[in-house]
Amino acid sequence: MKIDKVKSLIEEVKAFAAGTEKEIEDFRIRILGNKGELKQLFAQFKEVAPEEKKEYGQVLNELKHVAEARVDELKQALKQQQSSAEADSLDLSRPVNQQKVGSRHPISLIRNRIVEIFQNIGYEVSVGPEIEDDWHNFTALNFPPEHPARDMQDTFFIDKDPDIALRTHTSSVQVRMMESQSPPIRTISPGRVYRNEAISARAHCFFHQVEGLYIDKNVSFADLRQTLFYFARTLFGEDTEIRLRPSYFPFTEPSAEMDVSCTICSGKGCNVCKYTGFLEIMGCGMVDPNVLENCGIDSKVYSGFAFGMGIERIAQLKYNVNDLRLYSENDAQFLEQFRSSL
Ligand code: DAH
Repeated sequence: MKIDKVKSLIEEVKAFAAGTEKEIEDFRIRILGNKGELKQLFAQFKEVAPEEKKEYGQVLNELKHVAEARVDELKQALKQQQSSAEADSLDLSRPVNQQKVGSRHPISLIRNRIVEIFQNIGYEVSVGPEIEDDWHNFTALNFPPEHPARDMQDTFFIDKDPDIALRTHTSSVQVRMMESQSPPIRTISPGRVYRNEAISARAHCFFHQVEGLYIDKNVSFADLRQTLFYFARTLFGEDTEIRLRPSYFPFTEPSAEMDVSCTICSGKGCNVCKYTGFLEIMGCGMVDPNVLENCGIDSKVYSGFAFGMGIERIAQLKYNVNDLRLYSENDAQFLEQFRSSL
């Protein structure tokens, strides 16, 4: 009874179970393969009695469909099993791959800190162009025509007549602020400046400054001193002492240089402060009446003070980095040391 044989084969196929891809594939080849059972049963078609041929054909077709469906079903089930096993092996408590966070440049860190300290006492931030004219960089700031700072040695001139140069200091921004605003003016101007210097550990052809300016009625030298004292203590620590030494700048009168007690030895004397106990950090003074008038401010009504400091100099003291070249070499090992800083 060939038909019964096919029927029992159909039952066998329906009940067949397999756990691996190979078992399924072997099963498929055994039933549906080129030399498989189905092929052989078809080949026996001619031996079937004529009245049974129709039913024989039907059960063979059924066998074919059932077998194909079973193979598909088993393959699907196996796939699902595998992917859920993968999901089970996901460890959600595993630490993520650490992303590398960039670090700020030490000059930016110090600039931000200086700006923040002055913003907290009401100063606003202003900026000016790095390519500047003679008026804003020199003339309005009361530099006499023959002043040596105008010399080609210090200044990178871009054009003559009119003189256009890379600014040599951020004091040019105070001129722009006084020209464009009326007092009271409280402004802090960070920026890059350029000087024609040979590059060494102690000098560079570009560096950074922060300029400060306060213009109002009745501003006195005592205000200047107290503002800078507050700044020094906030930046370097509560025990910091300051010292103002008389000096000269064309744009301030009187002028001074400000020292802070040595950040290394706290004033006791060491080789960083050359055993003086103090370190120079900025120039300052009362804005010269000529400068006020040059900028359209009535020097009989208003007075004010200005100060300017080098950011690299402060960074040197804060981070103990004594070679100016390191700030612009883009050495990743150097820069990465500032990663944890804000
Ligand atoms: N511009 C000066 C320099 O580059 C620094 C400076 C000194 C700025 C005294 C000032 C000041 O505003 O009052 O060396």
